[in-house]
Amino acid sequence: MSPRSIGFIGGGRVTRFMLDGWVRAGGLPGSIVIGDPNPEVRALTQQRFPSAQVVADNLGPAAQDLVFLAVHPPSIGEVLTGIQGGLRPDTIVVSLAPKATLARLQAGLGGFGRLARCIPNAPSMVGQGLNPVAFGPELPAPERELVADLLRPLGHCPEVSEELLEGYAILTAMGPTYLWPQLYELTDLGMTFGLDRPTALAAVAAMVEGTARTMADSGLGEPAVLDLVPVHPLREQAATWRQQYREVLGALHAKLRP
Ligand SMILES: NC(=O)c1ccc[n+]([C@@H]2O[C@H](COP(=O)([O-])OP(=O)(O)OC[C@H]3O[C@@H](n4cnc5c(N)ncnc54)[C@H](OP(=O)(O)O)[C@@H]3O)[C@@H](O)[C@H]2O)c1
Repeated sequence: MSPRSIGFIGGGRVTRFMLDGWVRAGGLPGSIVIGDPNPEVRALTQQRFPSAQVVADNLGPAAQDLVFLAVHPPSIGEVLTGIQGGLRPDTIVVSLAPKATLARLQAGLGGFGRLARCIPNAPSMVGQGLNPVAFGPELPAPERELVADLLRPLGHCPEVSEELLEGYAILTAMGPTYLWPQLYELTDLGMTFGLDRPTALAAVAAMVEGTARTMADSGLGEPAVLDLVPVHPLREQAATWRQQYREVLGALHAKLRP
């Protein structure tokens, strides 16, 4: 089951890759209304999704069957204040922002409790997302199923406890940004070794998928997995960036925690 109409408040990156994911999976689910104050973002979003209604205010998107809050945490407060009077009693509100808890959302919406939170990731664009979702206690079971049905074409959407969502924001939402520079570098190197670009990209993609699956599915612990390959040309550098991961991402997680 799918909502008949979906609103997005904020028409930026997350909105675009979710819409891209649905288009790729067979089409947009219902009619789409997107609100964003930035004219450049509106133009870009309208060009990419001609059938969507792209508007400058947030009341249009808020009046739909389901509305995603796709703005950064500092903007959440003003968005909640602005849409509180415009929500229908049967609307479902799904926030995509870290930090703003279900309790804060409910308070900011004057007690409105048909709420969920989700932290999507960019691979949703190609149907390979990992989009954990936490439901507000007042959201009835059929509406929870409707949210899950909507997210399913974008990838996995496990139900998780709300306290874990900021961890997922660091691990899976921002995670691609840690890996992409390394993987593009490898792709470019592959081309200097004689592979053409599509072949290098396919080789890197297969290597990364298999590497991750070996960690998850081999039953081996970290030392045994690392020992599968005897030569580690970047061992010293890895020690440095592992330390940086701990420092930078640990601090960011502490900052994101509500
Ligand atoms: N991108 C991801 O991979 C990802 C993954 C998981 C979760 N998220 C979360 O999703 C939210 C949006 O992220 P994003 O990556 O889409 O950011 P983004 O590309 O910067 O897009 C946010 C958009 O919201 C607009 N906006 C600002 N204030 C607004 C308001 N009051 N009403 C309506 N729109 C407003 C912004 O306009 P201006 O440019 O004029 O400010 C911008 O166009 C954030 O909370 C982020 O943490 C993102």
